[in-house]
Amino acid sequence: MNIFITGVAGFIGFNFALNQLKIHNTKNFRIYAIDNFDNYYSTKIKKIRVNQLKSYKNFIFKNIDIKNKKKLILFLKSKKIDKVYHFAAQAGVRYSAINPKKYIDVNIKGFINVMDATIKLKPKIIFYASSSSIYGDSKNFPLSETNELNPKNIYAFSKKLNEKYADQLAKFSKTFFIGLRFFTVYGEFGRPDMYIGKLIGKINKKKVFEINNRGNHSRDFTYIGDVCKILDKLSKIKLKSRHTILNICSNNPVNILKISDRILKDYGHTKIKYIKLNSLDVLKTHGDNKKVKKLIGKFKFTNINDGLNKTIHWFKESKFAKYY
Ligand SMILES: NC(=O)c1ccc[n+]([C@@H]2O[C@H](COP(=O)([O-])OP(=O)(O)OC[C@H]3O[C@@H](n4cnc5c(N)ncnc54)[C@H](O)[C@@H]3O)[C@@H](O)[C@H]2O)c1
Repeated sequence: MNIFITGVAGFIGFNFALNQLKIHNTKNFRIYAIDNFDNYYSTKIKKIRVNQLKSYKNFIFKNIDIKNKKKLILFLKSKKIDKVYHFAAQAGVRYSAINPKKYIDVNIKGFINVMDATIKLKPKIIFYASSSSIYGDSKNFPLSETNELNPKNIYAFSKKLNEKYADQLAKFSKTFFIGLRFFTVYGEFGRPDMYIGKLIGKINKKKVFEINNRGNHSRDFTYIGDVCKILDKLSKIKLKSRHTILNICSNNPVNILKISDRILKDYGHTKIKYIKLNSLDVLKTHGDNKKVKKLIGKFKFTNINDGLNKTIHWFKESKFAKYY
């Protein structure tokens, strides 16, 4: 079996690839993967992740920008691909106010390039990353996949458009599509631009850590190990619908101060500054995960304390934590 992963130097792509390489330790399994080591956050972290994956013989990597459709097609030419996992994107809600064009180029045009280049290969299934931010501000919690969508920023809009595009493709092809609405994924080798990774970086550098909205935010933190397991289970089930949208969340909103308090206590200390609300942020995310559970069967999500234990342990022990 061959799978194709985009954004493999990223947090989710890397962890998923590593997990798959460990599970399928056979000659018949191959991962073809790409990333362009975009410099939105540390390229050093991204390169370390990919080098770790390169120690597996059945991992084949190429530095390709998804904006370059020709290169994508050339790389995939005459390859048999069974499953596609499209994670490459310009992530980040707040950065979308600074550089909105990049979200159009990478998340919309790049998304179309990946879809066009891979659908030709007739894979059984294409997974692609959507986001919980697509819901915007809501009062109907937990957010179910049928809830109204109110994207508040270009990032969220780009993900909504991805879902609409996949919807159209699914109508005219034999490939199945799964859109993954990820809710604040955290864990080992996590993103340095997100709450936990950012705080770790500030502690390492003894700099002030700013907490938005004075900490009155809650997020449905979802452990990366669970994400990898869910993706593996989803790739094995028989789907009825050509296009399925799923919340990938633990259904447990946690106040962000609880997270920073734990990290400050167990990893190290730094100064905290409480600042006002950023208008691009949503106040709360809390997803309903009944739909994904119904598909994959009984699944126990990692509780926040255990997930944080594993995450903090990784940052304490890893020689790479210093790059945060
Ligand atoms: N981490 C989360 O909590 C979360 C939540 C919601 C949605 N998502 C989505 O899940 C996906 C993966 O997120 P992540 O947390 O791993 O982010 P990430 O930024 O760590 O990974 C994205 C990867 O895509 C690569 N990339 C960016 N532009 C590219 C381009 N033009 N060509 C090729 N590669 C490119 C980056 O270099 C990076 O390695 C993204 O689509 C993101 O929007 C993540």
